[in-house]
Amino acid sequence: MDANVFPVPEAIAKTALIDNAKYLEMYDRSVKDSVGFWAEHGQRIDWIKPYTEVKDVSYDPHDVHIRWFHDGTLNVSANCLDRHLATRGDQTAIIWEGDDPSESENITYRDLHARVCRFANAMKAQGVKKGDRVCIYLPMIPEAAVAMLACARIGAVHSIVFGGFSPDSLSNRIQDSECVMLITSDEGLRGGRKVPLKANADKALETCPSVTSVVVVKRTGGAVAMTEGRDVWYHDVVAAASADCPAEELDAEHPLFILYTSGSTGKPKGVLHTSGGYLVYASMTHQYVFDYKDGDIYWCTADVGWVTGHSYIVYGPLANGATTLMFEGVPNYPSVSRFWDVIDKHQVSIFYTAPTAIRSLMREGEEPVQRTSRKSLRLLGSVGEPINPEAWLWYHRVVGDSRCPIVDTWWQTETGGILITPLPGATALKPGSATRPFFGVVPLLVDAEGNELSGATEGNLCIADSWPGQMRTVYGDHERFVQTYFTTYKGYYFTGDGCRRDEDGYYWITGRVDDVINVSGHRMGTAEVESALVAHPKVAEAAVVGYPHDIKGQGIYAYVTLVAGEEPTEALRKELVGWVRTEIGPIASPDVIQWAPGLPKTRSGKIMRRILRKIAENDFGALGDTSTLADPTVVDDLIDNRPDA
Ligand code: WTA
Repeated sequence: MDANVFPVPEAIAKTALIDNAKYLEMYDRSVKDSVGFWAEHGQRIDWIKPYTEVKDVSYDPHDVHIRWFHDGTLNVSANCLDRHLATRGDQTAIIWEGDDPSESENITYRDLHARVCRFANAMKAQGVKKGDRVCIYLPMIPEAAVAMLACARIGAVHSIVFGGFSPDSLSNRIQDSECVMLITSDEGLRGGRKVPLKANADKALETCPSVTSVVVVKRTGGAVAMTEGRDVWYHDVVAAASADCPAEELDAEHPLFILYTSGSTGKPKGVLHTSGGYLVYASMTHQYVFDYKDGDIYWCTADVGWVTGHSYIVYGPLANGATTLMFEGVPNYPSVSRFWDVIDKHQVSIFYTAPTAIRSLMREGEEPVQRTSRKSLRLLGSVGEPINPEAWLWYHRVVGDSRCPIVDTWWQTETGGILITPLPGATALKPGSATRPFFGVVPLLVDAEGNELSGATEGNLCIADSWPGQMRTVYGDHERFVQTYFTTYKGYYFTGDGCRRDEDGYYWITGRVDDVINVSGHRMGTAEVESALVAHPKVAEAAVVGYPHDIKGQGIYAYVTLVAGEEPTEALRKELVGWVRTEIGPIASPDVIQWAPGLPKTRSGKIMRRILRKIAENDFGALGDTSTLADPTVVDDLIDNRPDA
């Protein structure tokens, strides 16, 4: 066998839920009889009123609609909590590991249920009703999961904003979905450093008239301002609330959450996910992709501010009655062994993280890993960006002692759950490949004209047909949903990713083909960074592209043209980096700013990003045709003045 193929290890094959024959049989049925397949698997969750309609989907640009199980009713929080009480009430639902290694907590299903019911009642007492939008801006503390499930219990729609976003970004997201409540904490704690969440929230709320109530969790005890009549403490409102809160009966298509994500143009989009199909898909992928069985201790290192945290820390695992670990801290605090120490401390058997974390820990050498045991590990996972084979091999050999399969899971905020992935007991692995589609998923590669390509080839990745976890719309802007995903290639969902398919039918994601860049696994629209830059009074014009970065995957490279008369100084460069951090958040900090007296434009004024990308990549040989530029000499200037060129 090919040296670069890793067959299913014997120990895994013996116990795995799905072997290759079973995968092929189930996959075949899932695409040939999609309705029958999902009618059956939809029953993995509890319905209050059973569905009779499985699927009602159209990708026709004139009438895009996506509905699954739509005449059924259910409650997502009851599925994640109540239905487990009889059989596993005393089992740990959430292991919380604090930023400080001396702080951790085990929360049973019974306890989590009581906390969610109390907080759901407290939210109702604050006036939150079914259908209202609630913004959650919290660190990775148990209250984040409690708040999500409390919203789901009463039919409120949560919109989580990552704690690393600035007041401005928070404000924009709250305004877009007109949230009535904001749930935050005094401060966050990451790597021993405090994050001023309440102060950021106060600033954001200056421009958010829809928010009438703010609930504040005490995390650090740091001093915060409380606005009379608007702000209440979490511990006060839950102490006053009853632990009896019946779960609301909701339609399968009742909105569960909105999550903002970056696209190639404009402001971030509010991706809307609904209840029934999403939960079926999140729980089913969690079970099969991670080969989850009772007794496993499962740890996904994502933040609940991203979709991975929604589907694979909270909803998927809890729907499956799993034990899920929630980590407040960072991989390198108090030492670069932290991940492996936590694995030993809680006997983690399934570990799911991002390539950027692996690459940064790889740089620290093998010793910080090898001084820990990691004997409890059975399976490793990767998500968020392409994993380079070198990082894959290190993860496999050093972290997993060559014993644990790696599931490289490709998916998106829009897809709700994993679409392309190995199954541990079924799939031989190739480092760097997300391998094969999950049940019900039909990937296809198209050329620029939308012609489907067959066999071993490379093209733009589309998905034919729907799966239950698919997003339903862009909140408040269905037309943008249609335009973004269903008009480029008629009849298909367009992912925005490029992809190669090899002779074994394995898929290799090559990265975004649009103006979205992936920085440390975080999606960033180049247009967002550009509009932050041009908002600075000294900036006339800016163009932002991604470039290869050893740790982050991609870095942010900004070309900036200053207003006439302004001097390009080192101090101004620092000021602009700081400016973008305050406008968007630290994840958007430009890595490189190049002063550009002019930008390469066509005669009609369109910036030629292809050229800017090549210069940022230090790849001057392949600039392509520059003769259509209004002023070809700007290119030479950019090359000559490239920083560290
Ligand atoms: C990229 C994160 C290669 C891809 C779940 C996608 C990946 C974008 C992988 C979505 C992977 C995610 N291999 N690329 N295993 N997983 N991506 O919405 O470009 O934050 O379109 O969802 O990340 O990022 P998002």
